[in-house]
Amino acid sequence: MRRVYMDYSATTPVDARVVEAMLPYLTEKFGNPSSVHLWGQEARAAVDHARQQVAALIGARPNDVIFVSSGTEANNLAIRGVAEQWAARGRHIITSTIEHPSVRGVCQLLEQRGWEITRLPVGEDGIVRATDVQAALRPDTVLVTIMLANNEIGTIQPIAEIAAIVRQMRARGCSHALLHVDGVQALGRMRVEVEELGCDLLSMSGHKLHAPKGVGALYVRRGVRLAPQMIGGHQERNRRAGTEAVPLIVAFGKAAELARQELETRIAHMRALRDRFEAGVAERISDVVFNGDRKRRLPHITNVSFRYIEGEGLLINLDLQGIAVSTGSACSSGTLEPSPVIRALGRDDELARGAVRFSLGKETTEEDIDYVLDVLPRAVDALRRISPLYQKAVAEGRAKQLLVPTT
Ligand SMILES: Cc1ncc(COP(=O)(O)O)c(C=O)c1O
Repeated sequence: MRRVYMDYSATTPVDARVVEAMLPYLTEKFGNPSSVHLWGQEARAAVDHARQQVAALIGARPNDVIFVSSGTEANNLAIRGVAEQWAARGRHIITSTIEHPSVRGVCQLLEQRGWEITRLPVGEDGIVRATDVQAALRPDTVLVTIMLANNEIGTIQPIAEIAAIVRQMRARGCSHALLHVDGVQALGRMRVEVEELGCDLLSMSGHKLHAPKGVGALYVRRGVRLAPQMIGGHQERNRRAGTEAVPLIVAFGKAAELARQELETRIAHMRALRDRFEAGVAERISDVVFNGDRKRRLPHITNVSFRYIEGEGLLINLDLQGIAVSTGSACSSGTLEPSPVIRALGRDDELARGAVRFSLGKETTEEDIDYVLDVLPRAVDALRRISPLYQKAVAEGRAKQLLVPTT
């Protein structure tokens, strides 16, 4: 059976060149960067080099990059770090309704501990309005945390516009708010330059751009202070204690360098295949809705709602045929809840439940896309045939014909 991985938003394979770069740091170059001797110096130099590589990918100064264990940790450090550091100034945070669970969860926790959280809605296009941020900013706002691009539908948020507003309010003395941006899904899939974005903090994760899992980074603009969340060592200039994960950091550095060199080629490749996939879906399958803005979005994600069926059912059906996709839904205490992101677009329950995310990578081929386009319409038809919702829609004359004839 052919196997097609279409879940690059969840994680990516480690690039062979990245493996090659990190291997010596798992074997002969095993020193602790804090050690004074030669082994330590070798490891320190490798971490410094990786810091330069990651900083170069986002146009930052190397000293403004802190290595952490994941995008989740970067988000925790940024949000909790700012909230705790500036609690005396105010306890108001602005975020959106489409953030990743690692941002949503931290905001929820802070809310339970007395912070006030304003969650801005998105339009049907999956984009936050900068004017809503302006209206929500208050003298006691300490943080605005909005993602650069959404991980389920790929929509790109107007960060530069939001940053301009945040800075203006700060300059006028109307607010002290800092701007944190979760850039995890965007990095390596679009140009990300911290000066252009105007953000104060930016979260990154290695495994979304062909480095291994377990390494991430947080960009912290010079002069921005935040309370460390990991205590007990002087590493990362006292901002994140713990012996540096040298092999993983080296890998992240190499992956960042490759992403920078190959960004345009990767984007063009993923976009062309994504467009081919979407055209094929629209042509072959009835009653589908593409979620999120069609223009302001990452090149590698397409999120499709298939009416009358459950996304989870389709995911399992495709998995049995060798195709990996995902739904945004979380399985909590045995009940399948539709994705909060798709719900935030104002989609009805049926469309929210029928949403599936297909995400591509630099390794995806035309043959992969054509295989999925061959399997998918039959999988959707098979599920619709047994769907009470579909039967009802047919009886009411709402459903379109199945495109694949019964055999
Ligand atoms: C937008 C976004 N933020 C944060 C994360 C968490 O990153 P990590 O898996 O490195 O913890 C992810 C991963 O799916 C993501 O897509």
